[in-house]
Amino acid sequence: MKIVLGFARPGRKVAFRMKICCIGAGYVGGPTMAMIALKAPDIEVRVVDMNATRIAAWNSGTLPIYEPGLDDVVKQTRGKNLHFSTDVNGAIKAADIIFVAVNTPTKTYGVGAGRAADLRFIESVARTIAEVATGPKIIVEKSTIPVKTAETIKDILAANARGIKFEVLSNPEFLAEGTAVADLQMPDRVLIGGERTPGGEQAMQTLVDVYARWVPRDRIITTNLWSSELSKLVANAFLAQRISSINSISALCEATGADVDEVANAIGKDSRIGPKFLKASVGFGGSCFQKDILNLVYLCEHFGLPEVAAYWDGVVKMNDWQKRRFSTKIVRALFNTVADKKIAVLGFAFKKDTNDTRESAAIAVCRDLLAEQANVVVYDPQVPADEIRRDVLGKGKEDARLTVAKTAYEATEGAHAIAVVTEWDEFKKLDYAKILGTMHKPAFIFDGRNILDLCKLTALGFRTYGIGK
Ligand code: UDX
Ligand code: UDX
Repeated sequence: MKIVLGFARPGRKVAFRMKICCIGAGYVGGPTMAMIALKAPDIEVRVVDMNATRIAAWNSGTLPIYEPGLDDVVKQTRGKNLHFSTDVNGAIKAADIIFVAVNTPTKTYGVGAGRAADLRFIESVARTIAEVATGPKIIVEKSTIPVKTAETIKDILAANARGIKFEVLSNPEFLAEGTAVADLQMPDRVLIGGERTPGGEQAMQTLVDVYARWVPRDRIITTNLWSSELSKLVANAFLAQRISSINSISALCEATGADVDEVANAIGKDSRIGPKFLKASVGFGGSCFQKDILNLVYLCEHFGLPEVAAYWDGVVKMNDWQKRRFSTKIVRALFNTVADKKIAVLGFAFKKDTNDTRESAAIAVCRDLLAEQANVVVYDPQVPADEIRRDVLGKGKEDARLTVAKTAYEATEGAHAIAVVTEWDEFKKLDYAKILGTMHKPAFIFDGRNILDLCKLTALGFRTYGIGK
């Protein structure tokens, strides 16, 4: 690897052993690159994005994503060996390794609409790399993509490469939002897929050496390209399946008088099952679970496996049902009508400790309640009001029935019911006696995350409903 001169601190020259760039400064690209910069001060890391506003935020005091601990990592590295810019071409030219972390949303049009991944950004990045590169590069797929996407990337590169050598690796990200810094610091595993050719093996070794600076070697797994791509989809499908499984049982608990937390605890003690990801909820959200399962479903259908496709599709169907079940429960409990009643929705992010709202259950719940003509007031500690309105109503649309409050107390004042949709810690610490005093009676609480002490709230005078209770 060539030695390049760089600046560790303004004014002080050091030799960077390697240059890395990442295209896509999102929830995956930003934190991952910040961690590499922190752990490898001898590597220069440039994060580029076509979205100038996002890059400006990465360079400011308020990062574009809320992630506990991330500010610190960025503070320690930004301006030293970590740089954010919109200069995609410059970063590609300079880099030895190029990570691709652009988004791959579910297609909304044409063949595979609603299920297949939209790979247009991946393709355009591949074309840009082929156009701009002047020397050999290792290209690393970070974005979650369907199996065999590496082949597409290789194909585009080969057709446009002008004799330049490219190696394509798959290195899926397993971090969860809200715990990204800890997940990156101490990952359960790092997965690197590559071609089993001398060039592929060498490229894999180069990337292994980057992670080996802080990840124990036995946690870095190398596989062939397709295994790596498929493993990411399968890992997310298995995790989501656990949630849909426990959520299906939550309905049975409500019907029988069992308590889903007690059931989860009892089955989770079996070491073969394990305790994690058994928290019944209003439904899973996030940019990955639904998208990746739909992707898996599409793949299975493509390969002539309709039974396998239907099996995994059930996980998404159960999740949709669970979200609808929650809003239906609210309507039923409020004497079969929420029209003109004020419902306070506490939490809008898809989970706590993130400002990400993609596929959040809150979106479905708010839409259902608005369709029933309720007056919905949302409060979330991190999600901006504009984002909430855009997610629920669509870009540029307004609806007087949907408002956003600045505090939980403002949201609940004069409300008929409270729906807890995200498990933010601050919702556990609210003064519910004070809140009850300002609400219409009977006052209802629907805890979509099972985080509140329902016995205490019932004693205070609330009518309480949990999930699977
Ligand atoms: C998420 C998932 O976590 C990931 O696994 C999935 O494959 C893609 O979506 P994330 O980092 O959260 O990744 O996506 P997002 O926050 O949308 O960031 C993608 C960034 O890429 C955006 O900032 C976008 O502006 C940028 N981008 C997109 C480019 O710079 N160039 C493009 O051509 C397309
Ligand atoms: C997930 C995977 O965990 C991660 O490995 C992958 O890289 C990206 O997708 P993320 O979507 O960030 O991460 O969050 P995660 O913690 O998995 O939660 C997903 C959703 O499931 C959230 O809405 C969460 O509230 C919900 N959930 C999680 C439950 O409802 N119950 C649980 O027991 C766990």
